Amino acid sequence: MSTISHPTHTNRQTILVCFLAALAGLLFGLDMGVIAGALPFIANEFNLSSHHQEVVVSIMMLGAALGALCSGPMSSSLGRKKSLLLGAVLFIIGSIGCAVAHSMEVLAVSRFILGLAVGVASFTAPLYLSEIAPERIRGSMISLYQLMITIGILAAFLSDTALSEGGHWRWMLGVITFPAIVLFIGVLTLPESPRWLAMKDKHELAGKVLKLLRNSDKEAQDELNQIRESVKMKQRGLQLFRHNAHFRRSTYLGVLLQFMQQFTGMTVIMYYAPKIFEIAGFATTREQMWGTVIAGLTNVLATFIAIALVDRWGRKPILKLGFSGMAVCMGILGYMFHSGISNPTEQYAAVIVLLIFITGFAMSAGPLIWVLCSEIQPLAGRDFGVTCSTMANWIANMIIGATFLTLIDTIGSSGTFWLYGVLNVVCIVLTLLFVPETKNISLEHIERNLMCGNPLRHIGQPPQGKTGKAITTE
Ligand code: BGC
Repeated sequence: MSTISHPTHTNRQTILVCFLAALAGLLFGLDMGVIAGALPFIANEFNLSSHHQEVVVSIMMLGAALGALCSGPMSSSLGRKKSLLLGAVLFIIGSIGCAVAHSMEVLAVSRFILGLAVGVASFTAPLYLSEIAPERIRGSMISLYQLMITIGILAAFLSDTALSEGGHWRWMLGVITFPAIVLFIGVLTLPESPRWLAMKDKHELAGKVLKLLRNSDKEAQDELNQIRESVKMKQRGLQLFRHNAHFRRSTYLGVLLQFMQQFTGMTVIMYYAPKIFEIAGFATTREQMWGTVIAGLTNVLATFIAIALVDRWGRKPILKLGFSGMAVCMGILGYMFHSGISNPTEQYAAVIVLLIFITGFAMSAGPLIWVLCSEIQPLAGRDFGVTCSTMANWIANMIIGATFLTLIDTIGSSGTFWLYGVLNVVCIVLTLLFVPETKNISLEHIERNLMCGNPLRHIGQPPQGKTGKAITTE
């Protein structure tokens, strides 16, 4: 059986299903973006010290890491659909809790619940998308999730800007309840992942879902046969990790990829955009807020480049291009901050370089790391592998968020941006050494290549041999 299929059109139902699941990303983005604008008002109302403000901000990341940790066993036993539903319920409870909180403690607990929801969403949505999308559009469908994250961040920046006039922080946090309800209703209509169903020996149901989502019964049957093959592996999750060196390699690669995404420095720009505009010489809050909105908009628009190119150019060339662009931009920004920004021309030049950096991230590492992390794990260990990589994302996110201001104070803004420039160069080298090209290859074929010991950077290679058959493991 060939691992590459070439039907020309995609089932509309599949796109709708992917879109609804990707809505989880919107909530992730909204909750990540909203706090920057709400924090000054919250601090004022509850009289919070800097330390308490840090707690309010970072408790969500803690919840997200924990949420991701619990998601593996949960989505393995309950299924992807029920996990997404639970995520939506947590989003609703957390958002209402934040909006009505009358003390810092209630607010912190509500933010923690939101964090759990973000952790569940960031684990389950890309995983579900990778398991539901046909291989020829899998990259763009998982990138939809990242597009939703960026739209969420932008919407949060915009609502912060609009609601900041009257200091309506409860509304800033509370309006997120509405998209959370939409997510809940949307997920109710989703089919369960055919790969999870097959893992639970529900092959007939898995076949039904595939028939609904594929263009022909033959295509559905071929895919089901491949899935059945990979389900045969006896050991699962942690057990597989302990006993199988090949699975350990893909788990470590997932963790590495998420660290690479965070160490590009993009998250710092999302969390501290107003501060960066201040460093670039924009003194008023208004200028800083609008600069932040433009940064958010660039992030959204550039994600479309990834959606358009990921299944045509492939993952690796786009990643190399993105990391190179980001390295150069960080180098230039470091130089500009070092030599001092003294006139409006230099200020705007710095903004343009920053926007090119954001474009570099949004068209590459932003979506592609989520794509790769959900593609490289074998079915029997997918929940465990994706749990580890998603947790790595949140741990790295916390490290980056917690060290940025200290770095600026100790090595200065030029030193900090140069450091991120060097880290992006390291990412190029790591991409060359370890990252596979997974374009147009079925998840089952990637798994066979991994489990028969092919080097990580080759696990996405098409089937070898005269028969056109994939390499077999056993
Ligand atoms: C990352 C976030 C980042 C966001 C920016 C996501 O993929 O995981 O850390 O802030 O993209 O769009």
